[in-house]
Amino acid sequence: MTKVTMTVNGKSVSAETEGRTLLVQYLRDGLGLTGTHVGCDTSQCGACSVHVNGEVVKACTVFAQDLAGADVRTIEGMANADGSLSTLQQAFQDCHGLQCGFCTPGMVMSSAALLAKNATPSEAEIRHHLEGNICRCTGYHNIVKAVLQASGQEAGAIAAE
Ligand code: FES
Ligand code: FES
Repeated sequence: MTKVTMTVNGKSVSAETEGRTLLVQYLRDGLGLTGTHVGCDTSQCGACSVHVNGEVVKACTVFAQDLAGADVRTIEGMANADGSLSTLQQAFQDCHGLQCGFCTPGMVMSSAALLAKNATPSEAEIRHHLEGNICRCTGYHNIVKAVLQASGQEAGAIAAE
């Protein structure tokens, strides 16, 4: 076992790892940050999406030991400092961009990464960016609306799925 230290949501943290320990296991089992979900384990669903050094990454695809010293952000680090929902999280709630919520942490993390690079993405750009995130219940319509609202754009008439 090897202790791996990285920064998660602004705090320096450490946990024991094996060589095969994935980042998602490090976060969930090592640190108790269970907001990052495992939906497939085959790199397809995006439920495990987090930010690593500012880029969105599927946490089931990278080994924790390769990320010593990295700066990681998870859904637990997305709320405002006072604990209230961020603009993006609030938009998901307002637009009913979730039902069971299983995909939601990954959707929020992936959408946040898009908005950090493109403050006013088009509907097509949002749909393209979220192609790696699967939702099994809500459908994508309201998720796209949420991202549009969070970016201050009219979320009215968007194309049907
Ligand atoms: S659990 Fe990582 S992509 Fe599905
Ligand atoms: S809200 Fe249930 S999987 Fe997306």
